[in-house]
Amino acid sequence: MSNPVSLTRFLIEQQHAGHISADLRLLIEVVARSCKRISIAVGKGALGGVLGDAGTGNVQGEAQKKLDVISNEILLEANEWGGHLAACASEEMDHPVPVPNAYPKGNYLLLFDPLDGSSNIDVNVSVGTIFSVLRCPDGVSGADDAHFLQCGATQVAAGYAIYGPSTELVLTVGNGSHAFTMDREIGGFLLTRKDIQVPRATAEFAINMSNQRHWDTPMQRYIDELLAGKDGPRGKNFNMRWIASMVADVHRIMNRGGIFIYPWDRKDPSKAGKLRLMYEANPMAMLIEQAGGAATDGRRRILDIQPEALHQRIPVFLGSAEEVEVATAYHLEAD
Ligand code: AHG
Ligand code: MN
Ligand code: MN
Ligand code: MN
Repeated sequence: MSNPVSLTRFLIEQQHAGHISADLRLLIEVVARSCKRISIAVGKGALGGVLGDAGTGNVQGEAQKKLDVISNEILLEANEWGGHLAACASEEMDHPVPVPNAYPKGNYLLLFDPLDGSSNIDVNVSVGTIFSVLRCPDGVSGADDAHFLQCGATQVAAGYAIYGPSTELVLTVGNGSHAFTMDREIGGFLLTRKDIQVPRATAEFAINMSNQRHWDTPMQRYIDELLAGKDGPRGKNFNMRWIASMVADVHRIMNRGGIFIYPWDRKDPSKAGKLRLMYEANPMAMLIEQAGGAATDGRRRILDIQPEALHQRIPVFLGSAEEVEVATAYHLEAD
């Protein structure tokens, strides 16, 4: 690459343009450094002793993989080394880790899914890390769940790392979504896609079809009409992909369009679908909207939803704007 732009240089330019503060720039660098360490751990596979179950469970009722726990520790350690810039909340922790009293209260709250796609770790399929940054209200320590319950539209930054054949970091600080690829020789991230634009229309959907009998009627009808293809009401054939790592399915959509859906299902009606609002749906919704896409819970814009609990789940319809609008209309018309 001629004259590559490093993540550091990109962030300094964003700071000089007034889009981010010095603290937010440093926090994003700290998270990116963690993603490099996680990428190296993931890349070791069986040789690194990182595969398989940790023998513990998390607040979600999930069996934790060793890499869930390792990735969580890497992110917490980096925040500590970086001077405790933020209080941290995580998929793998019941409650947040506040900024210690010895440190100035950071201006930010950091939320993360340290390893997304855990079911794919042991079969060597792409996994990732998802993160979201909120402002820390004045005088708040970030020690309580309630401090984090801010709607997604107030995020000041969001991103994910995908640990695939190459490691990429996709980031937004509120003016576009941009992709950086990790240069393994220098260990840094270099800008490889600026201002990503998600195609407005698509003929590709991502959903776990094995749950079909558990969906509500509008959801059944929407998918049936996709599957009917060009002879059906949609008038075109659709392709399907489902990787079961949200990061990988969303990354494909960021690159070629599509719609990703994890709907409500009656397997466990008390859970509004499987995905978590604060550290999966919200950051991905910000990234996709910044790339011209859309994200709803089947009725409402995800970024407008007022969170009620730190580990709250939410149905997710996310991707190419026109297709998300079509899919959302099925539920709105049924109401
Ligand atoms: P996590 O590994 O962080 O718990 O997230 C897994 C999520 C998401 O990455 C993916 O889209 C979804 O679970 C897959 O769910 P199914 O296994 O039910 O298809
Ligand atoms: Mn996840
Ligand atoms: Mn996870
Ligand atoms: Mn999990």
